[in-house]
Amino acid sequence: MNVLVKHSSKNIVLKTSLDVLHIKKACKIVEELLIALGAVIKPGVKTIDIDKFAGDFIFKRKGASGLKGYMGFPANVCISVNNVAAHGIGCDYVIRDGDLITIDTTVGVDGWYGDGAWTYIAGEATPEKKRLVKAAWKAMLAGIAESSAGKKLGDIGASVKKTALRYGCNVVEDLAGHGIGRKIHEEPVVLHVGKKGTGLPIIPGMVFTIEPILTLGSGKVRFHSDNWSIIIADDNLSAQFECTLAVFKNQTDVLTLSNINLQKYIDFPPMF
Ligand code: MF3
Ligand code: CO
Ligand code: CO
Repeated sequence: MNVLVKHSSKNIVLKTSLDVLHIKKACKIVEELLIALGAVIKPGVKTIDIDKFAGDFIFKRKGASGLKGYMGFPANVCISVNNVAAHGIGCDYVIRDGDLITIDTTVGVDGWYGDGAWTYIAGEATPEKKRLVKAAWKAMLAGIAESSAGKKLGDIGASVKKTALRYGCNVVEDLAGHGIGRKIHEEPVVLHVGKKGTGLPIIPGMVFTIEPILTLGSGKVRFHSDNWSIIIADDNLSAQFECTLAVFKNQTDVLTLSNINLQKYIDFPPMF
C-alpha cells in the first residue's frame, strides 16, 4: 500500500473477518426479507401493509430496522413506486398491475448493519419495464464483478454506467453506494459513474454497497413534497438493486446474495 492509498482512505473503517461475520447476520435478514417480499408484492396490496410485513419480518428474526428513525425516517423500509427513485414511504397507495416497486431495507443486528434493495414487478409488465429492471440487475452485477481487491472504485462506476447505457437506460448519478458497518453510511462513497483505473483502491477489509438506480428518463432527480421521496425529475420509471459486499484478499463476498446462485441469475434477476 503506498502513501497515497493510506492518505486517501484514512476515513474508511476496514473490517476484520469477525466484523464481517456480524455484518453477515444483518445481511442474511435483508436477503431473506427481499426473497419473502416476492410473494407479498402484488396488485391490490397497499404499500403501508408491505412496510408492516417488513417490520414484523425483521422483528421475528431478531433484527431491527436500521431505517426507522434514521435521520427521522418514519418507516421500516423504503418503498419507492414507479417514478420514485428512492426513499419512498409506505402509505395508502394500492399497488396496480405493472407497477415497479423498489424495496430498500437496512437491518441492524448487534449494532452492525446490512443493506439491500430489489425492484419487483407487480403483476404483468411491458417489455420496456422488464428491460429497465433487467438493466438495473445487470448494472449491479457489473459493479460486483469489478469489486475485487486491487481494482479501483472508478472501475465499479465505469462498469455500472456502461451497462446501463448498453440497455438504453440512464444512471441516477446523484445517488451512490457507501461503506457500511457500525454505521449505515460510512466512507467511501461508491459512485455509479466513473473512469476505469481511477478513484480509491479497493482493498481487503472494505465492506460497501453497490446500489445503482436506473431510469428510462434523464437521470436527474428532485425531492417530493414529503421531503423524503426522491423522484425522477422527468417522472420516468426507475429500478434499483442494492447489495452489500465484503472484500477479502482473494475474493469478494456478496453478503446480501448468499442464497442466490449468481451463476443462475447472470442474465435475469431472480423475480423474472
Ligand atoms: N437504505 C438506504 C441506502 O441504501 C438508506 C435510506 S436512508 C433513509 O443507503 F433515511 F432514507 F431511509
Ligand atoms: Co445503501
Ligand atoms: Co439501502
